[in-house]
Amino acid sequence: PREDKTDLYALLDAAANWYQQQLPKSPDAQAYCRKRGLDADTIARFRLGWAPAGFDGVIKALGTNEKRLQLLNEAGMVASNERGNKYDRFRERLMFPILDRRGRVIAFGGRVLQSEQGPKYLNSPETPLFHKGRELFALWQVKQANTKLERIVVVEGYMDVIALHQAGLPIAVATLGTATTPEHTEVLFRAAPDVVFCFDGDRAGRAAAWKALDAALPRLRDGRQAYFLFLPDGEDPDSLVRKEGRDGFEKRIREATPLSDYFFGELSHDVNLSSLDGRARLAERARPLIARLPDGAFRDLMAQELEKRS
Ligand code: UTP
Ligand code: MN
Ligand code: MN
Ligand code: MN
Ligand code: MN
Repeated sequence: PREDKTDLYALLDAAANWYQQQLPKSPDAQAYCRKRGLDADTIARFRLGWAPAGFDGVIKALGTNEKRLQLLNEAGMVASNERGNKYDRFRERLMFPILDRRGRVIAFGGRVLQSEQGPKYLNSPETPLFHKGRELFALWQVKQANTKLERIVVVEGYMDVIALHQAGLPIAVATLGTATTPEHTEVLFRAAPDVVFCFDGDRAGRAAAWKALDAALPRLRDGRQAYFLFLPDGEDPDSLVRKEGRDGFEKRIREATPLSDYFFGELSHDVNLSSLDGRARLAERARPLIARLPDGAFRDLMAQELEKRS
């Protein structure tokens, strides 16, 4: 394992700078940014860039000798073909640098401009600097924008985060193409006492919400609260904040469902609570989950509530 990661950080920062410099040179990428409603200030604040076509743009800019190529490889910026030749991992993609909590570039996400061009988003692989299960996109920007943070909102995508920040809600972060992990939850609760999980109004979004609840349970010490915000079918935070504006979306955040309501609602939705058999089913499902809560008032009250309902 490498001890000194300074050169990796420096290389990724240089890559972000290079992608940023390519953006003004691509009319297609600029048109796409306009279409998505990204303003110049947002583009600069998130250091958005453009990975041009071709297989050696980043390599030519940053990695012309064997040592540099090796470093690019370690940083996840190049891939290798069967012959072992290295080429740019990100090509013809709008680039979203992923920063760590100190503002250092540790990875990238890249979006195609048209959906026919392969997977919509491509993310850096796991590297010595980038552990997907731990990092949250835009946590650094959130910390920069708020001296004291009462509430943090977790959304699915890069564009969701960016749209919310641009609309005047710089309290949004995203997991990076993975389910919310217990590590994410711990990072979130260290940033703010209230965490609002907000997922797309589609089937995938609803499944992601329950996974987030599962990850949050063991971290719900007293003083911490989790909420769930379910968006209308077919909407995501980006589309919705553009329709409803900052105030409309903020109202949704304020009215988000407390974890306890979501918990009992979800576990009871296919259960007939007027029969003993149904109440037994609810109890069977809920008990092991409540047992995963840390000791405290919240666990006691959840257990009492289960007694009442079953
Ligand atoms: P979505 O499919 O909801 O995309 O995926 P989106 O964020 O709304 O993207 P736009 O608005 O079309 O640009 C949500 C998140 O899941 C991850 C990305 O982090 C994305 O932002 N994802 C999605 C991937 O990693 N790869 C994919 O191919 C698709
Ligand atoms: Mn590691
Ligand atoms: Mn979705
Ligand atoms: Mn979207
Ligand atoms: Mn989406």
